[in-house]
Amino acid sequence: MRSHYSPDPKEMNLSEPVKIRLRDNGPMVIEGGVEITDADGNAFPTNPDKPVVALCRCGATKNRPFCDGAHNQCGFEAADRAPTE
Ligand code: FES
Repeated sequence: MRSHYSPDPKEMNLSEPVKIRLRDNGPMVIEGGVEITDADGNAFPTNPDKPVVALCRCGATKNRPFCDGAHNQCGFEAADRAPTE
């Protein structure tokens, strides 16, 4: 059994783009089949039954690169908006 989520390209619906959503004052939430690796190419373990991951943007997590909710206590503020025009 694999210890991390690694999407099988044959099972991926490539017509649906991976969605990355920036939460206000919080993490970057990635929805879709992705593999997150370190600089050496080794994959971080993720839950294969839940193809949604939240990556820390505040730098305060104790579970890098994932969000552990620490943004709620560190005063992180970010409410980035994409251009609407
Ligand atoms: S964004 Fe949640 S802990 Fe950093």
